[in-house]
This record gives sequence, C-alpha cells and structure tokens, in this order.
Amino acid sequence: MGKNLTYKILEKNLLSGNLKTGNEIAVKVNQTLTQDSTGTMVYLQLESMKIKNIKTDLSVAYIDHNTLQTGFENADDHEFIKTAAAKYGIIFSKPGNGICHQLHLERFGKPGSILIGSDSHTPTCGGLGMLSIGCGGLDVAVGIAKGYYYLKVPKVLNIELKGKLNPWVSAKDVILYILKKLTVKGGVGYVIEYSGDGIKELSVTDRATIANMGAELGATTSIFPSDEITKDFLKRQNREKDFVPLYADDDAVYDKKIIINLNDIQPMTAMPHSPDNVIKISDIKDKIKVDQVAIGSCTNSSYTDLMKVAKILKGRKIHKDVSLIISPGSSNILKMMSDNGALGDLIAAGARILEVTCGPCIGMGQAPKTNGISLRTFNRNFKGRCGTKNADVYLVSPETAAVSAITGYLTNPSTFRKAPIVEIPDKFEVYDNYFIYPPKNRNNLEVVMGPNIKPFPINKPLPSKLEGKILLKTSDNITTDDIMPSNAKLLPYRSNIPELSKYCFGTLIDDFYIRAKKNNGGFIIGGENYGQGSSREHAALVPLYLGIKAVIAKSFARIHKSNLINSGILPLIFKNKNDYNLLKEFDEIKINNLIESLDNKSEITLINKTKNVSIQLIFEGSHRDIEILKHGGYLNYANLTNIDI
Ligand code: F3S
Repeated sequence: MGKNLTYKILEKNLLSGNLKTGNEIAVKVNQTLTQDSTGTMVYLQLESMKIKNIKTDLSVAYIDHNTLQTGFENADDHEFIKTAAAKYGIIFSKPGNGICHQLHLERFGKPGSILIGSDSHTPTCGGLGMLSIGCGGLDVAVGIAKGYYYLKVPKVLNIELKGKLNPWVSAKDVILYILKKLTVKGGVGYVIEYSGDGIKELSVTDRATIANMGAELGATTSIFPSDEITKDFLKRQNREKDFVPLYADDDAVYDKKIIINLNDIQPMTAMPHSPDNVIKISDIKDKIKVDQVAIGSCTNSSYTDLMKVAKILKGRKIHKDVSLIISPGSSNILKMMSDNGALGDLIAAGARILEVTCGPCIGMGQAPKTNGISLRTFNRNFKGRCGTKNADVYLVSPETAAVSAITGYLTNPSTFRKAPIVEIPDKFEVYDNYFIYPPKNRNNLEVVMGPNIKPFPINKPLPSKLEGKILLKTSDNITTDDIMPSNAKLLPYRSNIPELSKYCFGTLIDDFYIRAKKNNGGFIIGGENYGQGSSREHAALVPLYLGIKAVIAKSFARIHKSNLINSGILPLIFKNKNDYNLLKEFDEIKINNLIESLDNKSEITLINKTKNVSIQLIFEGSHRDIEILKHGGYLNYANLTNIDI
C-alpha cells in the first residue's frame, strides 16, 4: 500500500506512538517560528523552563505584527524577544524585514521537514513540501525547549488539481473556490495534500497562497509535493542545497479525495464576514463601490503577486474615492521592486506604500471608514478584524484588488485588458541585514523585560468538582478574534494579560470582564467550531486569568482546543448537541466526579441546578491531555514531570 506525503514526513520524524489515524504521536520538530504578537508569551514560557539551548535545528523569532510604536509597549516587547532570542540561540528578524510566513518560505523552509509555529498561517510553508503546523504558543515553547511536538495523527484529504488556470485567475481564486466547496469546517481533522497535473501550473508562492488559506478551512495543514518547481524556487533563493524531491507514492492511500478542475474556476470573492462566504465575482448583480483596497499579508505579498499589481497599475491612476494600500511581504521583495522600478509605478498610480509587515491584516492601522467597503488580498474577513466594526471586508486576488482600485468598484478582472505576465528573476536578492543571528558565546546574556511585560497566568490543578455560573452562551463559529479581540489599541498588550482581560469577548458583549470578576469566574457555552481563526493563545490565557473553568461547546477548532487544554481549561462537548438548548446564561451548573470520569474516559454529567436537569458531556482527548489538565496546564505538566521522550 503506497504512502501519502504526510505520512512519509511524519514517519521520518516519528519519536513515539503508532502512526495510525487518531493516535497521538510525538514527532521531532526541525524548525519553529514565532511572531511578536504570540511570541512574547512563548519566550516568557521558555524563560520559565530554564533551558540553555534550543533543541530544534533552527528557530526564528519574527517581528511583524505589532510594529506601530505609539508608546513604549511594542518596543518593549521587541526588545524582550530580541534579548530572549539571543540568549537561547534563536534567529531574530527585525521589524521591517517582512511577514513571518513569506520570509520563512523565502529563507528557511525545507521540503520534508517539520515546522511548528505560533501562528495559524504557519502552513504557508506547505507550499514547498514542508509539514508546517500552526499551534499554541506553549506547544512552540516546548518544541523549542525539548525538540518535540505531540499531535493526533490527522486524516489526509487529497485534492487533485487538473487542467489549467484561466487568464486572470490566480491561486487566491483557487483557494476561495475550495473554501466555497468545503466551508470553514471542511478541513477539520485533515491534512490537505495536493496532487495532480494542475499543480505544475502553480509556482511555489502560488502553492503557498493555497496552503496559507488551508487554515481557513480548519485543516491541520496543507502540503504540496517537492518537485522541479520547488527546486527552481529554492535555486532562485540561493538555497538549492535545501531541495529534496518528495512525492506521494502513485498508489498512496487517502481518507478522502476531491478532484478540482482549474479550468472551472473564475475570479472569486469571499463576501463579508467569513472566508467561505464565496461567490464568483461575475455572479454579483449589484455594483459594489469600494472605499479601500489593501494588498499584502502572508497570503498575497510575494514578488509575483506585487509585480502583477505593479504591471496592472503602471501608467494608470487609482480611482479618486479609493485608498490603495500595499504592504510587501519581505524587505527583499521591496528592494527588488525598488531596483526594477515597479515601486515607482505603484507610487505614481497613487498607492500608499506601508511598512513590510502584517499591518492592516491584524488591524494595525488602516481601519476602513464607518460602513466602509474594503477589498483585501488577505485571508480573513471576520467582522471587526479590520478595526472598524461596521466595515465590510471582501477577500480577493491581487489582480481583482488592483483592477478594482482603478475602477472604484469590485470588478471582475477578466473584463480588463490583457492579464499581466511576470518574469521571475534568476536570482532573488538575498541579504541578511534585518536578521540578527545569535552570538556564539551566549553565557550571561541578559533578557530585558520592560514594564509592559507581565507574568502570564498559571492555572491550579484541576479539582474533582467544578461549580459556577454560565457567564456567556455563544452561537456557532465564534472566532478567537471574538474571544480576545485584536486591534491597534489592544495589540500593545499582548504581553499584559491583566490589561487585555478588560476586553475579553468585547466584540460580543461589553461587560464580560465585570461578569467574570463578579462571579469569580465560571463557564462558557459555545456552538459549533468554537475558537476558529487565529492561533492566538490569549483567547485561552485571558479566560484562564478571568477564572473560566470549562468551555462546553458543540465542537471546537483544533488549535483553540489545544490552547484551552494547555491552559488547564476543560474543553467539553455535548453528547447530544440539542442539549445546548438546555443551558442559558447565568444558569448555575456543576460537574461532580470530574477526575474520575476523565480517568475512566467515561461521560461527564453536568447538572443544571437552575433548571434541575442533567446533561451528558464528553471529553475528547488523549491520556496525555488529561494529565495536562489535571496538572493545571502544559507548563505545570512539562515543568513538574520534566517529561522527555
Ligand atoms: Fe500577519 Fe495577517 Fe498573516 S496578521 S501572519 S499577515 S494572517
């Protein structure tokens, strides 16, 4: 029986466990990445593990999220991460160098290796045949400190791509098309493995765009084979030595298979407020007037993406009512575009060039106007993420974005003239001036912690009885942005949990913080896919700080569930989903015999004292997850048990 690509990489790096779907295994972590927004927590956690050296082949700390410095807070965080990186032997990427995933793809990603990152779009490096998984900060801290990562062996979904892309149709349209087909839950529990003749149509950066938004499908990760196109990409990046060919066997076995014909795909858009609310642009009947167009993000900021935009805009003028903002993915790309004149074309057309960072994607500036319409080449359009609660964000390809910036309306680019063709240079500019490599002698290096950096909360061991009020009941598809909003005002407090806690669930209600304080913590009830979206660990750490004991939902998004367990907060699901209707906000509930039920893997009985009914709940997790919960979180577990494989 032939092997798929995913199993080949897992097998090569397997440290413990049986490689069978659903089993828990430990794999060697070859590389890690962090960004500053989640990284402060990772390095605080690493500090508490008291290690001397990293156990990975390579770890990189990127600064790309919180780069606005309107006060001392972000600068303090950068300094903390810089000094911690030097102490432990981690490469530091200075602000201005670029977006973590684009940079990692260009500079470090290796076919056949395993990367874990404290950012949900870590799968971007799947574009070059690397098994790259987004996970919680604590998983990354343990990955750096101990060199391993535990995961449940995922199912593998094969998407076979056939045919050729139509003119004006790009990789972004392909992944939007897949999102329309599979929805934001369609990839849950799967690694998505791409194959077929159609992949020869796609460059590594195209593949990276598709792998990037596999996160929006809820997939564990997405991966492409490592082929001649991968080799060519690495050669142009001056890294041919990192190439290894890697394919699934011809008779590889998959859990599920889908065939997509690229010829069927037209320019698409994800309408507000979900990445799977996708429609063909040609099917939109009304004219949609656009106020803002934003091009960039880890999804669409490659050299090719931006050169296509520059070619479309060359000699043209941005519509008078449109603000076009562009943030390139890496300093190398910006320099190359500066040298070849394309940057001048963008400026001459009227574009606003931003710093080489995540910028507006994370709500770090450029919030649209009240009730504004923003077209973005990004990956998420959840309500409020852009910084303006009542703005409508549409996700589109760079081509659609550029053409619409000229016309002032959401425009099907294929109605425009000839599609741009971008020549890729033989050699990319590769220079290192924004990287700080760790010094050889790292004895006695000091880690600098400014006043913005507060200790992270640590849970207590799980008691056998939980009791309290339901503080909040949510609907389906609640995102980590809903749980712990992220915007330019709050981002500087990513290392300050007490301050952040005042805004918990702020997009849903105003007084959650007060409710939680008044009731000494309590419970949250969720619908389907609770905690989808960003990997943000703060969506678990802040509820922990506010005394949340358990979240009871119809289903959980993968990374958030693991973040809850790592924080010592119990994630439970309804045995019968209709029982969701038997619980209301402020009901008094209790769970008895918790430890016993967890140890016996038996159902857990919740008693709704207010309504006098009982509800059966299930904990879905491994023996190790239970041990972590019993210890009050992963940090306690890792430190107390000093686990090693
Ligand atoms: Fe940054 Fe947005 Fe990607 S915040 S890492 S560009 S999803």
